[in-house]
Amino acid sequence: MLKLGFIGAGTIGSSLALQLSSKGYPVVAVSSRHQTSAGNLAQAICGCSPVNSNQAVADTAELVFITTPDDVIASVASQTKWHRGQRVVHCSGADSTDILEPARKSGACVGVFHPLQTFASVKQAIENTPGSTFALEAEGPLLKILQTIATALGGRLIELKANDKVVYHAAAVIACNYLVTLVKLATDLWQTFGIPINQATEALLPLVRGTIHNIETVGIPECLTGPIARGDSGTIKKHLGALQKAAPDLLTTYRELGLKTIPIALAKGRIDEHQAEELRSILEQSNQ
Ligand SMILES: NC(=O)c1ccc[n+]([C@@H]2O[C@H](COP(=O)([O-])OP(=O)(O)OC[C@H]3O[C@@H](n4cnc5c(N)ncnc54)[C@H](OP(=O)(O)O)[C@@H]3O)[C@@H](O)[C@H]2O)c1
Repeated sequence: MLKLGFIGAGTIGSSLALQLSSKGYPVVAVSSRHQTSAGNLAQAICGCSPVNSNQAVADTAELVFITTPDDVIASVASQTKWHRGQRVVHCSGADSTDILEPARKSGACVGVFHPLQTFASVKQAIENTPGSTFALEAEGPLLKILQTIATALGGRLIELKANDKVVYHAAAVIACNYLVTLVKLATDLWQTFGIPINQATEALLPLVRGTIHNIETVGIPECLTGPIARGDSGTIKKHLGALQKAAPDLLTTYRELGLKTIPIALAKGRIDEHQAEELRSILEQSNQ
C-alpha cells in the first residue's frame, strides 16, 4: 500500500488519516499550520510522525492529501517541491486539479478526493463517512487508487471533470448549507409568536427529518406536500399577507422558492396548468 501523508490536520485531514490508518493504510507523516495539531493527530496513529514542514510530508509520503482550507491549497502546492511519480490530492469540492498545477508540472499525478458530506467535527466525520459519495477527479492509475480508497471508506463514487466542479459544488451548497438557512428562517419566524429558538428548532426538526425521509423513500416529485402541491392558492395569499406584516424581508425568498416549487407540483400531477398559472400570478405580484 502507498505511504500516505497529510498536510493540514483539521477536520477532514484528521478523519481521513484516522480512518485510512484503521483500514491498514500506512499514514507516515502529517504537518499542519500549528505543530500541536499535527502532534495530536500523529499521536493517535501508529507509525505516523508529526513533521514541522509541509515539505517533509512531500518528501516522505507517496500519496499526499492537502487538507488545508480551500484558499490555502494553491499556495501549499506552489511552495512545496514535488517529485515525479508522486501523487498529490486535495479535498475541495469547488476546486479542480488545476490548483495543483505546480505539482503536475513537477511530474506528480494530481487528483481531487471530495467527500460530499458535511463534517462539523472529526468524530462526526468518521461516523458519517460510510455511505457518503466521493467526487473524484484524477487520471489513470491515480483514479483507480482513489476509487479503492473511497471504497475502503465505505463510500460511493462519482467521477467529475474539472469544468463541472463549480456547478457541482454550488449544488452541494444549496442542498446542505441553504437547508441550514431555511431552518433558521423558519425558527426566526417562530420568534414572532414568542417560541424560543431551541424549542422552535426541536419542533421543526421532525418535520425536516420527515421531509428528508420522504425524499429518500417516495422521491421527488411525489413527496411534495403542502399548499402548492394541492393548488391551495388562498393559503398562499394568506402567507404573503402575514409575512408582509411579520417579516417583510422574507417575502422575496418565499416568493422565489414558491415559484420553484410549482413545476414540482405540476410534475406530481396534483395541480393542472390553470392552477399553476394562478399560483404563479399570486407569487409574482410584488405587493400581494
Ligand atoms: N468540513 C467539511 O464538511 C468538508 C467536507 C468536504 C470537503 N471539505 C474540504 O476539506 C478541506 C479541509 O477542510 P476542513 O473542514 O477539514 O478544514 P479545517 O478543519 O479548517 O482544517 C484545515 C486545517 O488546515 C491547516 N492549515 C491551514 N493552513 C495551513 C498551511 N499553510 N499548511 C498546513 N496546514 C494548514 C489548519 O491547521 P491548524 O489546525 O494547525 O491551524 C487546519 O487544521 C477543504 O478543502 C474543504 O473544502 C470539507
